[in-house]
Amino acid sequence: MEVRSEGIQVRCDKLPASVIQRTRLRVWFIRVCSSIVLWTCLVQLVTVGELWHSHLISGITNRISHITQLPRPLNVEDGVVRSQPPLLPARNYTSNGFLRVSCNGGLNQMRAAICDMVTVARFLNLTLVVPELDKTSFWVDPSNFEDIFDVKHFIDSLRDEVRIIKRLPKRFSRKHGYTQLEMPPVSWSSEKYYMQQILPLFSKHKVLHFNRTDARLANNGLPIDLQKLRCRVNFQALKFTPQIENLGYKLIRILQEKGPFVALHLRYEMDMLAFSGCTHGCTAEEAEDLKRMRYAYPWWREKEIVSEEKRSEGLCPLTPEEAALVLQALGIDRETQIYIAAGEIYGSERRLAALRAAFPRIVKKEKLLGPDELQQFQNHSSQMAALDFMVSVASNTFVPTYDGNMAKLVEGHRRYSGFKKTVLLDRRKLVDLLDMHQNGTLPWSEFAIAVRQAHQERMGQPTRRRIILDKPKEEDYFYANPQECLCEGKDCDDLLGIGNSSKPQ
Ligand SMILES: *[C@@H]1O[C@H](CO)[C@@H](O)[C@H](O)[C@H]1NC(C)=O
Ligand SMILES: *[C@@H]1O[C@H](CO)[C@@H](O)[C@H](O)[C@H]1NC(C)=O
Ligand SMILES: *[C@@H]1O[C@H](CO)[C@@H](O)[C@H](O)[C@H]1NC(C)=O
Ligand SMILES: *[C@@H]1O[C@H](CO)[C@@H](O)[C@H](O)[C@H]1NC(C)=O
Ligand SMILES: *[C@@H]1O[C@H](CO)[C@@H](O)[C@H](O)[C@H]1NC(C)=O
Ligand SMILES: *[C@@H]1O[C@H](CO)[C@@H](O)[C@H](O)[C@H]1NC(C)=O
Repeated sequence: MEVRSEGIQVRCDKLPASVIQRTRLRVWFIRVCSSIVLWTCLVQLVTVGELWHSHLISGITNRISHITQLPRPLNVEDGVVRSQPPLLPARNYTSNGFLRVSCNGGLNQMRAAICDMVTVARFLNLTLVVPELDKTSFWVDPSNFEDIFDVKHFIDSLRDEVRIIKRLPKRFSRKHGYTQLEMPPVSWSSEKYYMQQILPLFSKHKVLHFNRTDARLANNGLPIDLQKLRCRVNFQALKFTPQIENLGYKLIRILQEKGPFVALHLRYEMDMLAFSGCTHGCTAEEAEDLKRMRYAYPWWREKEIVSEEKRSEGLCPLTPEEAALVLQALGIDRETQIYIAAGEIYGSERRLAALRAAFPRIVKKEKLLGPDELQQFQNHSSQMAALDFMVSVASNTFVPTYDGNMAKLVEGHRRYSGFKKTVLLDRRKLVDLLDMHQNGTLPWSEFAIAVRQAHQERMGQPTRRRIILDKPKEEDYFYANPQECLCEGKDCDDLLGIGNSSKPQ
């Protein structure tokens, strides 16, 4: 078991301007220094890159892990250093047909789905068409796969497992009168479902189109090789485009230069509040607005919601004010940088006031980057989310205020990068403590101790996924804790503990 070191360190210190003078010796000196600085930067960037590459193990992925240890040639393109792993020989298999998939949901839900669908295609010996991304979800992002992910890397790096093509051959397209079988696969299915129910469909159809992809593969009980392939797609094959990576690393560097930082995934955005019906801390007018929005979306099924009931069950994202108290109780220093990994906070600056008072060094990407740098991402919520994803993975501490797909995927990535600290808030307990503190029955010091105690075992430490037979939705999500990919052999029992985890609720 190898646990990688905390955080990504990228420091490219500038040379002081006073050094720049005309004598030959000095010019020479500067050249040497610049080379050293540049070289250090290169090496550090490569290390950053490797965070996403190393660490995969055995089974299907055996060959890769050996190859990633070899030195690789550097490729410097538009200012980015990228390593080019050698092309593996393509897997030689007879394809049973084409699989088209239309992913639904936000960026991270789609990310998990892509990993699942590659795995299904591999298992059934299909040819996968590069997944189509959701353009009609709440986020209305017109981005295609290649606008977010490095499509060449995706195809090439998986070619020893599965054939992936950019588009369906023309003769199979609907325009040419070919009927594709369109269906959503059954949620949380095992590999047996795909073998027994899906594969036979290819005897009649050349092309199958999965038109929904969220959570279509079980968390548990799959063969280890398939679990590892899910990881390999997630941690190796899915790389953001160089544009996104460049800007993401720039954000990370700016933050790291000023010291350690917390990424707060403050999921206090209008869609989440409208969808969940959580209006604690909102004005009556805002609550009405949120309700109106909920009724306007026909596919949000739950309409009548009692906010306070939901909140007491721990089903509401923390408000910014609550988040401020919890971060303080957790002992996070007032001078710590807090990066807000989120879109527009509902109520904007007014609702951030308490958090800003407690932590003056709150930053958002809009503050760290120039407007021109973010402009190309502005109307592409998924590309913005990709930046927050990168920063959240790289942060010293990650605190999600709600457990959506972003929170879960980032949690999984952080476990994979050496079990970096992720505070998994126990919101049900927190709501009680917060209310008691606020009505004066629980003084600050006791509140702080109780908050800390409640989270001692919820810091993203190694643990096993909780399995709940027949209730996959309530289990721990595979991508939040891909334990099969975090350690190897009998050491895993030492690291993760034996058997089914029973994480406190
Ligand atoms: C692929 O496998 C088949 C059957 O095993 C073999 O005949 C064929 O030559 C192989 N193709 C390549 C390119 O290796
Ligand atoms: C997939 O191809 C391999 C040979 O490459 C074969 O052993 C296996 O049975 C095939 N599986 C399916 C589902 O076609
Ligand atoms: C998916 O396909 C099925 C079967 O054709 C259809 O009933 C369903 O409405 C489709 N769903 C979506 C989201 O397109
Ligand atoms: C983004 O969309 C809004 C309207 O939806 C438009 O006014 C704005 O110009 C767009 N910005 C960019 C950078 O395309
Ligand atoms: C304070 O809040 C707690 C938790 O909601 C509640 O159980 C308690 O009765 C309240 N106490 C007072 C004095 O309001
Ligand atoms: C795992 O533990 C949960 C309780 O935490 C229990 O309900 C479930 O049945 C267990 N699953 C297995 C496979 O042991």
